[in-house]
Amino acid sequence: MKTILTTIAVCMEDAFTKAGYDKSYAKVTVSNRPDLCEFQCNGAMAAAKAYKKAPIMIANDVVALLQETDLFETVEAVNPGFINIKLDAKCLADYLNQMEQEEGLGFEKAENPKTIMIDYGGPNVAKPLHVGHLRSAIIGESVKRIARFAGHQVIGDIHLGDWGYQMGLIITELKKRKPDLPYFQEEFEGEYPEEAPFTISELEEIYPTASSYAKEHDDYRENALQATFLLQNGHRGYRAIWKHIMNVSVTDLKKNYENLNVAFDLWKGEADAQAYIPDMVERLKSEGYAHLDDGALVVDVKEDTDTKEIPPCMILKSDGAALYDTTDLATLVEREEMYHPDEVIYVVDKRQELHFVQVFRCAKKTGIVDSDMKLEFLGFGTMNGKDGKPFKTREGGVMRLENLIREINEEMYQKITENKTVSEDEAMETAKIVGLAAIKYGDLSNQASKDYVFDVDRFTSFEGNTGPYILYTIVRIKSILNRYKENHELNGLTICPTQSECEKALMLEVAKFNGVMHTVFDEIAPHKICAYIYDLANAFNRFYHETKILAEEDQTKQKSYIALLKVTKDVLEQCIDLLGFSAPERM
Ligand code: ARG
Repeated sequence: MKTILTTIAVCMEDAFTKAGYDKSYAKVTVSNRPDLCEFQCNGAMAAAKAYKKAPIMIANDVVALLQETDLFETVEAVNPGFINIKLDAKCLADYLNQMEQEEGLGFEKAENPKTIMIDYGGPNVAKPLHVGHLRSAIIGESVKRIARFAGHQVIGDIHLGDWGYQMGLIITELKKRKPDLPYFQEEFEGEYPEEAPFTISELEEIYPTASSYAKEHDDYRENALQATFLLQNGHRGYRAIWKHIMNVSVTDLKKNYENLNVAFDLWKGEADAQAYIPDMVERLKSEGYAHLDDGALVVDVKEDTDTKEIPPCMILKSDGAALYDTTDLATLVEREEMYHPDEVIYVVDKRQELHFVQVFRCAKKTGIVDSDMKLEFLGFGTMNGKDGKPFKTREGGVMRLENLIREINEEMYQKITENKTVSEDEAMETAKIVGLAAIKYGDLSNQASKDYVFDVDRFTSFEGNTGPYILYTIVRIKSILNRYKENHELNGLTICPTQSECEKALMLEVAKFNGVMHTVFDEIAPHKICAYIYDLANAFNRFYHETKILAEEDQTKQKSYIALLKVTKDVLEQCIDLLGFSAPERM
């Protein structure tokens, strides 16, 4: 379905052409003076120069040709040369009725679907999930849903950090505690036990213990580095421990992400890329891309147009070890080979930007990916506490994701039970749903690249630009629809043209949906969904306060109201689904 702006622009272009002006001047925008008009075209002003005519004359010429169109209630030329437009109420009502008929509420699927991979989440196995990983999961999940809604084939990959020093630390600590385990007997040739030698809570304790111990004790740290090296070079017992760590952690991670309503198509990680490294390194060497620099193997990636220093991409350290650059390059080799994506989007902390500039340049330059593959870095800012510093617990420690979620849910539970009597179970369930909306909306309503302040009080408020406010609005609509449904048929109702100002304002907001979605997808900008649904919820609540809906006696009018409520709800629910949360039935 054409967007409402395009529909108007087509009509405007036609009039410009017929009046003898180039149609490139016929650009239409949403009015910035809603008190005067709904849409406007300022093209006559720009055309004045080219045609050496007063803008108002051009505007008059165009407007004269538009008087007969059904599309407009009014269209007028205003000094010095603006064209002010009000949409015809019937056309608007028809547009909304059609939205309800169409799949995706009129948002057209891409004509040429692309394969898009999204690299997000990126937790480090065996280390606790902290709030830093929250942003990647929330933003990535939304980007995935948006791209899928736009009709693309989307593959979300968690890209686990599962191959680093933390594994060596755990192995070392385990060996210290349980030296008799078969994994540590070099002569052992039998089958290793199926059961892991630790539970998730033990594992969560082992890592920080080992990590801080290693900082104080050089020999212990050497052992951990050695264990990492042996693991990466195929030590049989360590490989078996690694598998246990993976199983136990991945089970726990899945549970955590499920609570966040985040789902990955692929659970691959850095370890999967290792198999691609030797051939890749060989090729980079033999084709002359890589050279030695101070013993390390590097690929130069600086360009003449750089305004700041871009250091070379590091392929191998002087001791032959692979690095973060190497793993990300090898992952691209793997992705190209297995999935042939047209585009890969990385949702990662913006402090890693330089790393990705190097990797992307190196991958293009050396032909690891096709020259037309789009590599995109979606860097996000830091989540800060109210003090403006990175978010911490009250005691000043690193906030674990689980605790953060628990804190929000408790806050929501308080609010829900404050002035209503609901059963304990229902209140808990609702608190979970609304709490998730509070967290996700609080995050996504900010432009991803910006730092933001995580403010529990503000995010959990039912008023203002918050997730709970949006859900509250949806629940309000649902409750009216449910009450109407008790005595009437809900389906097959149509929206009729309106005289009321607040009703038309609501209809105009609803009609913006597919236009907003185009911008959101093109700019990868979930925050624009939030801005849109905030406006839409406000327009609805104004309409609600100024209109008697269930008490309306005129049946035709009431049916039209109900149909308008339904499409408003459908748009809101579609939007929050794209943000990655949902609304409860009651709250
Ligand atoms: N595990 C990394 C971290 O915690 C993030 C991974 C991002 N993705 C990537 N392909 N490098 O910093």
